[in-house]
Amino acid sequence: MADELFEAARDAAAKAHKPYSNFPVGAAIRTPSGAIHTGCNIENVSFPEGWCAETTAIGHMVMAGENMIAEVCVYAPEGPRTTPCGGCRQRLREFGSADTKVHLCDATGVVETITLGDLLPAAFDMDET
Ligand code: THU
Repeated sequence: MADELFEAARDAAAKAHKPYSNFPVGAAIRTPSGAIHTGCNIENVSFPEGWCAETTAIGHMVMAGENMIAEVCVYAPEGPRTTPCGGCRQRLREFGSADTKVHLCDATGVVETITLGDLLPAAFDMDET
């Protein structure tokens, strides 16, 4: 993974609104055009209303007029190996393929690279039903 994608996710995590968990997360999505779209987690005093960094990044990607994910970096400096939650796996799969790589990073760099297919086997996909 390019340093640029890691740094984008790290910069996004610095913007996290995480007063309840104190667990910052940044996500960076690279699209086939080469553009990078980022997001942070945004929590809420009504706890279930917060959302994840990946979801923010997807929103930025779509609003920039793009709808294909080539590669994802998830940066979580407080966790040993932070994987996207179940809902975000399905949201990422909407715009990526089973082969799309997701780089799981801590403060030191990539801890593991995994595919969306491995993260979400048997994903709901209307093309495959
Ligand atoms: N979180 C993310 O933003 N992305 C992940 O991949 C895992 C968890 C956030 C949600 C919540 O704000 C905080 O991390 C603690 O769960």
